[in-house]
Amino acid sequence: MTLLVGEILARATRGRPLLKDDLVRLLEISDETEYQALFQAAYEVKREHVGPVVYFRGLIEISNICQKDCLYCGIRKSNQKVPRFRLSVDDIVEAARWAHTNRYGSLVLQGGEIQDDKHTQFITETLQQLHAATGGELAVTLSLGEQSRDVLRRWHQAGAHRYLLRLETSRQDLYRQYHPEDHLWAPRLQCLEDLRTEGYQVGTGVMIGLPGQTCEDLADDLLYIRDLDVDMIGMGPFIPHGDTPLAHHLPTYDKAAHLNLGLKMLACARLVLPDANMAATTALQALSDTGREMGLIAGANIVMPNVTDPKHRRAYQLYDGKPSLDENSEQSRLGLEKRISSIGESIGYGLWGNSPRFDKRVS
Ligand code: 5AD
Repeated sequence: MTLLVGEILARATRGRPLLKDDLVRLLEISDETEYQALFQAAYEVKREHVGPVVYFRGLIEISNICQKDCLYCGIRKSNQKVPRFRLSVDDIVEAARWAHTNRYGSLVLQGGEIQDDKHTQFITETLQQLHAATGGELAVTLSLGEQSRDVLRRWHQAGAHRYLLRLETSRQDLYRQYHPEDHLWAPRLQCLEDLRTEGYQVGTGVMIGLPGQTCEDLADDLLYIRDLDVDMIGMGPFIPHGDTPLAHHLPTYDKAAHLNLGLKMLACARLVLPDANMAATTALQALSDTGREMGLIAGANIVMPNVTDPKHRRAYQLYDGKPSLDENSEQSRLGLEKRISSIGESIGYGLWGNSPRFDKRVS
């Protein structure tokens, strides 16, 4: 029996759980009317649960030095072509001050994965200094890869409230295919569990449109993320990076198809986890100039404007075609303000913007 999109969406907007077959049907949509109906339903659910408010997370790319060697990632350890950098504590505090002055309620510190004491200490000190410089008024998210429970505890104590760690895919054989042998799926999952135990607001997500990944896989990913019961979702389309092994094995890359699939995933994620925070990621914008607005219309409620000094941005490229390489923080803020008001939404300036999901859990 073929499932009717209208019926699936009617169930979803009434808060009834979606099944795998429902999600596969939604992800396989190619008809324009069905496509619009999906976004409309996701937007309705978003307005009801998180409202038409976009929260800014000032993104600071702190370092592109990475001990991991993921086959798709531009800053993988083996990529000799990329000049490596690490911001100083002062650089990071300065970017945090700018975000604070401009009433961003929250920051994301993202960087390559480094597991050693010096790095642990560096991040601890950075957290302490940035809170001191901004009166403890900013919510801070870390996105620094897999870490031991002890390290996560120390960073949490030093003022990290949230953590993003993508599962990349819930299909373990696909994970094995795109990571070296010593980089396993199970410890990553363990780390997500440790983050929750240590009291973080936890975010995860997957890459969308990896070669070999099907709509069934993506439906499984969504159900897996739902069962992990996370507070935040960060996911975006896979985009090849020319200096990675995966790009060399790729026949062709269809930008429009990846953008569409990415947007359908966001819409489905909003239906599956109505009260989570979900980012319209930069990868969407890399595929289309208006990709992030499309993401907001598809159900996302978070954007992460880059507040890193533009002189370092070029070296932090996970995929080709990263947008806004030369734009400074002020230009990017003004551009986003315009884009967000063009779709009738407002910006939650000065607010932490926890997900209603998290607030409900701790209340
Ligand atoms: N395309 C899209 N996303 C990528 N990431 C890394 N490389 C790519 C790529 N080529 C994502 C991964 C990682 C996050 C920081 O960036 O999902 O978790």
